[in-house]
Amino acid sequence: MAIFVTGSTGYLGSYLVAGLFTEHRDKLNLLVRAKTDEEARERLWTSLQLHFDFRNFLEYLSTRVRIFRGDLTSERFGLPDDEYHALVDTTGSIIHCAASLNRKSERQCLNVNLRGGLEVIQLGRRAQNRNGLRRYSHVSTVAVAGTRRNEVVTEDVAIDWARSDYDPYARTKKFGEHMLHQLLADVPRTVFRPAIVLGDSRRPDTSQFDMVQAFDMLVRLPVLPLRPRDKIDIVPANYVAKAIVTIHQKDEPAHGIYHLSSGTGSQTYQELTDALAKSGGWRRPAYWPGIGGMFSRTVNRISRGKGALARGASLLKVFWPYLDWNTVFDNSRVVAELGEAPAKFSTYAFPLLKFSRENKFRYPAKPWPAMEIPEKTAVAGSARA
Ligand SMILES: NC(=O)c1ccc[n+]([C@@H]2O[C@H](COP(=O)([O-])OP(=O)(O)OC[C@H]3O[C@@H](n4cnc5c(N)ncnc54)[C@H](OP(=O)(O)O)[C@@H]3O)[C@@H](O)[C@H]2O)c1
Repeated sequence: MAIFVTGSTGYLGSYLVAGLFTEHRDKLNLLVRAKTDEEARERLWTSLQLHFDFRNFLEYLSTRVRIFRGDLTSERFGLPDDEYHALVDTTGSIIHCAASLNRKSERQCLNVNLRGGLEVIQLGRRAQNRNGLRRYSHVSTVAVAGTRRNEVVTEDVAIDWARSDYDPYARTKKFGEHMLHQLLADVPRTVFRPAIVLGDSRRPDTSQFDMVQAFDMLVRLPVLPLRPRDKIDIVPANYVAKAIVTIHQKDEPAHGIYHLSSGTGSQTYQELTDALAKSGGWRRPAYWPGIGGMFSRTVNRISRGKGALARGASLLKVFWPYLDWNTVFDNSRVVAELGEAPAKFSTYAFPLLKFSRENKFRYPAKPWPAMEIPEKTAVAGSARA
């Protein structure tokens, strides 16, 4: 039986697929948005080249993957009946990683995270009724904890329905967890809540730049409107993926919810800016927490402009509540389960920023090489436009 994975063309999803390929033997059913089979394969190559060269990628693609060309927001993912039935029949467990992270669009968050989430849960229900579902793993976020200040939040108290949320993303992810518990109560379920996922502690390259760009804008400022001893909970993608893959494959994980975070080991802004100043030979910023109002007016003004600076400012604006809350997420469960804590951001922040700046915050993706595609690579849903 295969593992159904959503979000494999995204940043974290690519790490999950890579971890499943290299550490396990299961076949994967991948949901990919694409108009043609060729586009589906190319989109997977674009996301997975962060982890594999083309030959290895093709080998995995042709022996371990069945692609289902579909969209979360369409009924039964928009798959023809025979393909949907094949998906139900062959799915033995699910890792639902896809989401809209667009903090500004309530419509997108509702459609992808709620309507789309419900479609995945319905697939889970049908697979459970058909052959039994070994596990449903749901990738959520620590943002479900809502508005917070100066806290260390543990898994079991993070969701508090009386609390407001910072944005539609957080609200829909919170309700996504609720739907799963209500609708698949009879299925073994694991909820993973990553903190801010930034880069890879083993190497400088990344294919996701939103948070990196916001962070980059912040560290360029001579004066920061932050409290220097506030902690920021950042975790590398390789640690997050290792946790999800390892725990998903366990027969009996110890818990139902895991914070994938740095917890009380998170570093302060001062520690991070000191480390970056040392590595890059940069000037240390001054900290003036009192200028928050003036700072946000300036960021608002810059974000209305055009170009890289405006984009950085716009990203900083949407991420600001998560930079200013001095809240970290207890990670003792995942540390016990994996036997290791995540690497500290200061140990890999400089190479990450350097790579991102050098590549102008865009991943230098290699195109599909001019080679034959092996025929045995099955792509479902190929009858559709
Ligand atoms: N990145 C972080 O800092 C962070 C922190 C906490 C939690 N998380 C959670 O981690 C998960 C992955 O995040 P990420 O950073 O990897 O995001 P990402 O790079 O934006 O990837 C999102 C994935 O979702 C897919 N998707 C979106 N809408 C879809 C639709 N309508 N139908 C099918 N697929 C759709 C995307 O497909 P396309 O390629 O076709 O768009 C992509 O594969 C999310 O659940 C997120 O909430 C992320």
